Amino acid sequence: MIKGITLPELDADKFINEKVKEIIAAVGNGIAINALSGGVDSSVVTMLGHRALGKKLRTVFIQNGLMRKGEPEMVAGVFRKLGISIEIIDAQKEFLAALRGVTDPEKKREAITQTFYKKVFGRIVRESKAKFLLQGTILTDVDETVAGIKRQHNVFAQLGIDPQEAFGYQIIEPLIQLRKDGVRAIGKALGLPEEVFDRIPFPGPALAARIIGEVTEERLNTVRKATAITEQMLGGKGAFQYMAILHDDRVTGMRDGKRDFGQQIEIRCWDSIDARTATPTKLPFELLETLAGKIVIEVPGVVSVTYNITSKPPSTIEAV
Ligand code: XMP
Repeated sequence: MIKGITLPELDADKFINEKVKEIIAAVGNGIAINALSGGVDSSVVTMLGHRALGKKLRTVFIQNGLMRKGEPEMVAGVFRKLGISIEIIDAQKEFLAALRGVTDPEKKREAITQTFYKKVFGRIVRESKAKFLLQGTILTDVDETVAGIKRQHNVFAQLGIDPQEAFGYQIIEPLIQLRKDGVRAIGKALGLPEEVFDRIPFPGPALAARIIGEVTEERLNTVRKATAITEQMLGGKGAFQYMAILHDDRVTGMRDGKRDFGQQIEIRCWDSIDARTATPTKLPFELLETLAGKIVIEVPGVVSVTYNITSKPPSTIEAV
């Protein structure tokens, strides 16, 4: 059992000092690879890791083709300003190949996990002779995985998987005792800009967690466009997380007086503190109408937009 640290219990400076010491002690004179996805958790680990290891840490951003529009360049730009250089590694073909024909949610998550950890990081770690991978697993990821609700992409030891045996390297998880609110506090204390430490959460499996059914390049483009519109319109309203989800089933619509058997986007917008429970945000109906109108005009093939009004539980935040 991991002992969680709640936000009121957290002393940010003490936590940072302890984790820096632990990372230095674990890595010693070796080098480590750091997996940055641009989300809050991995951004905080990037700051901690560089504070501990400096140039002995190589930070990589895997372009898996499942990311939001412009994400790799945006993330690399933010860290460049903080004096941290990011290598962007193009693995789009590998991820798309692993996801071809896969429709079951847990099998999709497994395909992504294997591609990340075994193929892509396995190769980078082997080539660089690093022995460690730093990553931003948090307590919520562990809870849901162990409870069998959803296999979060980055949880191993708690499932009895030894990363050294399975992938050939050890994993360091400095944030494993924290939840999202604690991670944000550490990010702030480490000097991350607010646009990063206060960024809405984004899942490791990225847009693949928001496509029901098969993940293809075309379907990724659809959900990516809907995501950009949704984030632009629902940003700054104080919600914990908001997203667009592409459904698998089609519905009859009409466009220019003709039948259009089209796709459906579901909007979710959540109020939550730590993602363990969540309720749908009571968004103004006019805002939802405007959002739906923009999506059906700007995203080709979409004829229907719905808003999820179910709480977690029994819903979960992501659809897959
Ligand atoms: P769910 O969908 O399980 O999500 O209610 C809870 C929180 O975790 C994020 N999420 C993930 N984060 N790897 C991650 O690092 C994952 O596989 C993953 N799946 C969900 C989700 O966005 C939400 O904030």
